[in-house]
Order: sequence, then structure tokens, then C-alpha cells
Amino acid sequence: MSNVERVCKFLDEAQTYYLATVEGDQPRVRPFGTALVFEDKLYIQTGKVKDVSKQLAANPKAEICAFTGGKWVRIAGELINDDRREPKAAMLDKMPSLKAMYSADDDNTQVLYFRNAKATFSSFTEAPETISL
Ligand SMILES: Cc1cc2nc3c(=O)[nH]c(=O)nc-3n(C[C@H](O)[C@H](O)[C@H](O)COP(=O)(O)O)c2cc1C
Repeated sequence: MSNVERVCKFLDEAQTYYLATVEGDQPRVRPFGTALVFEDKLYIQTGKVKDVSKQLAANPKAEICAFTGGKWVRIAGELINDDRREPKAAMLDKMPSLKAMYSADDDNTQVLYFRNAKATFSSFTEAPETISL
């Protein structure tokens, strides 16, 4: 399993992760659940109308935290917009419940992938492990 696949599997198992962005000097954080490996990159999904999308457009730096099975992961990097139809369609196929609100061809659906990212797995019992995405 590649590093990206391993991190995505962890997010899938956790089901919910928390995505932090930056707005000026104010951190912003919210629950997210979308995760997909596409072309060896880790993608997430949102709506362009959301504040989170506007924050990432102004400053792509982001961090995710998820916890499951006694371990947590933090993924720190930049989230980069990808306006191609293919990753949007792949995301909606993996997470069909999104199709109630989004389609690959609407003006709102947005997918973003992590660039220059590092993922650190931690637990109370083992030394942290950092891998590059
Ligand atoms: C469990 C859970 C998972 C969620 N997953 C997503 C997601 O993957 N993408 C998304 O855009 N919003 C998701 N949401 C909704 C966002 O948390 C919500 O729209 C939030 O207000 C967006 O942040 P913002 O207000 O700073 O734009 C999820 C909410 C919950 C409770």
C-alpha cells in the first residue's frame, strides 16, 4: 500500500476528520468526511460556496486531524483546487451520498488535493511516524 493509500484508508476508517484552515490570523476548523486517492494524490471534497473553500483559495495551507483505533493522524500541507471533471466524478462515485447535493458538472462541487504534505501517525504507546504524501 502506498503512503497516500495508507493515509486515505485511515481517514476512511475514522469516517470523520477535522480540517483546519487559516483566515487571516484566525485558525478555522470543521468536521469533514470526504477522502479519495486519485492519481496517487489524496483528495477531499467541498462546495465552492463555503467559507472553507474561500479560505483555501486565499491561503492553501491546511491541516487534517483524525483519530481511530487508538491512533491519530495529522496531515499538514497545501490543498490545491482541481477543476477537472474526472476527480470530481471519482469522488462522487466513491461517496454516493454526496450525489444528493453535488454533481460533477455543477458550479459548486470542488475537489482539492494535498501538495507538499506530510502525515504523522501518533499514539500514546508508539513513537510518531511521519511519511510524505
Ligand atoms: C461528519 C461530517 C462530515 C462532513 N464532511 C464534509 C465534507 O467532506 N465536505 C464538506 O464540504 N463539508 C462536510 N461537512 C460539513 C461541514 O463541516 C460544514 O459545511 C462546515 O460548516 C464547513 O466549514 P465552513 O463553515 O468553515 O465553510 C461535514 C459535516 C459533518 C458533521
